[in-house]
Amino acid sequence: MTDRKMVTLTVEGRQVQVPEGTTMLEAAKVAGILIPHYCYHPGLPVAGVCRMCLVEVEKAPKLAPACATAVADGQIVHVHSDAAREARQGVLEMLLINHPLDCPICDQSGECELQDYTFAEGRKDSRYREAKRFNPVEDFGGDVLYVPNRCILCTRCVRFMEDVAHDPVLNVSERGDRAVIGKFEGHDLTHPWAGNVVELCPVGALLSKDFLNKARSWDLDRSASICPNCTQGCNAAIESRDNVVVRMRPRPNDDVNKFFLCDEGRLNYRWLNRRDRVEFPHVRQGDALAPVDWDVAVDAAAAALRGRRVFVLASPSLSNEVLFLLSRVIERVGGTGAFRVRQGPEAPLDGVPGLSLRADRAANVQGAELLGFGRTDTPLDGLAAGDVLLVADEELAGVDPAGITAAVGRAGAVVVIGTTLPPWARVASVVLPIANMAEEEGTFTNVQGRVQRYLQAKAAPGFARPGYAALADVLAALGEAVVYFLPADVFRALADTHAPFAGMNYDTLGLRGAIVSTGTGSPAMAAAST
Ligand code: SF4
Ligand code: SF4
Ligand code: FES
Repeated sequence: MTDRKMVTLTVEGRQVQVPEGTTMLEAAKVAGILIPHYCYHPGLPVAGVCRMCLVEVEKAPKLAPACATAVADGQIVHVHSDAAREARQGVLEMLLINHPLDCPICDQSGECELQDYTFAEGRKDSRYREAKRFNPVEDFGGDVLYVPNRCILCTRCVRFMEDVAHDPVLNVSERGDRAVIGKFEGHDLTHPWAGNVVELCPVGALLSKDFLNKARSWDLDRSASICPNCTQGCNAAIESRDNVVVRMRPRPNDDVNKFFLCDEGRLNYRWLNRRDRVEFPHVRQGDALAPVDWDVAVDAAAAALRGRRVFVLASPSLSNEVLFLLSRVIERVGGTGAFRVRQGPEAPLDGVPGLSLRADRAANVQGAELLGFGRTDTPLDGLAAGDVLLVADEELAGVDPAGITAAVGRAGAVVVIGTTLPPWARVASVVLPIANMAEEEGTFTNVQGRVQRYLQAKAAPGFARPGYAALADVLAALGEAVVYFLPADVFRALADTHAPFAGMNYDTLGLRGAIVSTGTGSPAMAAAST
């Protein structure tokens, strides 16, 4: 709790109280009023260069830039007075002098702040009769294209690279109406977090090569999600078109990723659209796997597990709910669980402490550990002779085929619960097809121990069901007394039985999440977040 002095002011007739030092633009947000702006972004240092945020302040001699002016007690601010609107109209007219009529072919159309503010309060005609300035499109490196004709020189991209990424690659080159964003000689936007400039650009001047011409923004469905590609657990929005994920964008969360996603995470979404999915439950009939109804496959899985110990090899990309139900299977029949996790180089975003592309390239490593699964580099070593090998969405990529054959040979039975059916898995007795993370809802526990919810973004293929639903049925067939209908039911049982999650509630987690406890009242794994 801050002990900063509170200041009371009135914005558009609404009285608000904000801490001393707050800018008028942020104070207006508290009052529920948007002051139009371009160069201001809450994740960047203030520049005050676009003049779009001019507002009228009673008793002040001239209009004030709301992004760069601190509030004062008793201030009365008018955002929609004639003088303020006229000033913004002038800024818009100036910006449009050289801006092309590109909206029909611009990727930003539908989510462009120049388009929005011009529609809201711009002039309906242009007084400019000269030819517009023209500069060719430039490849800025990484995933970024620069379309200078659309640039409004707000410098958000320059400030991000300099002040947040600490890799000053961009600058404002030339002066006056010839000014454009340039790259310093020999540098380009290959920094691991450089793709954020595309989101930060308020117009269509910086575009993602990956998303180029893929979809109109109004055709997209958006779901609040979590980036599944490392243990940082950056908050993201998954955007899909016709049930195909086409883009992942950051969702602000001050405690995890501020406003940013790394390039590797942002661009690694294609696996969510894999076409080689297993779509039907299967059971072994003679030499082959035959598609069957869910109830037949569930009974077969329960029969394979009954009376035998189990070794569960689980993906650390599975949700807390799925991992918890797998741990229930282990508790019911006896056995152990393990996981392995793909590694990659760490890549911190220097300007944001605690934010980094983490070496563990899976979303729920901490969840797996808290739920009793052991990390291993030799994933099949824990399988004892005669145990059921239950493989949960782990393709065993890179594992020596001879080792897999030997493990399958000593297993009492093989049960596969997964999104795909790799060639080795064709020896399974039972295959239960499950949804991937974009096709279900659930929670992950990130590197800081923050439990965060993600929502469903698209439909699962064929007869695939969410993993928690498939496992709930298997547990019911094994005699589990608790009935799990929804992820919230599973989470309740998880929180009731695992001390770090005690007191958490699926609904009150909201979309910002909550930190697991160590039992001493202090957040667990805080050290891991730095
Ligand atoms: S490219 Fe975009 S973010 Fe960069 S200065 Fe131009 S308008 Fe602003
Ligand atoms: S840091 Fe990790 S969680 Fe965040 S965007 Fe990158 S891969 Fe995704
Ligand atoms: S947003 Fe205030 S000057 Fe640009």
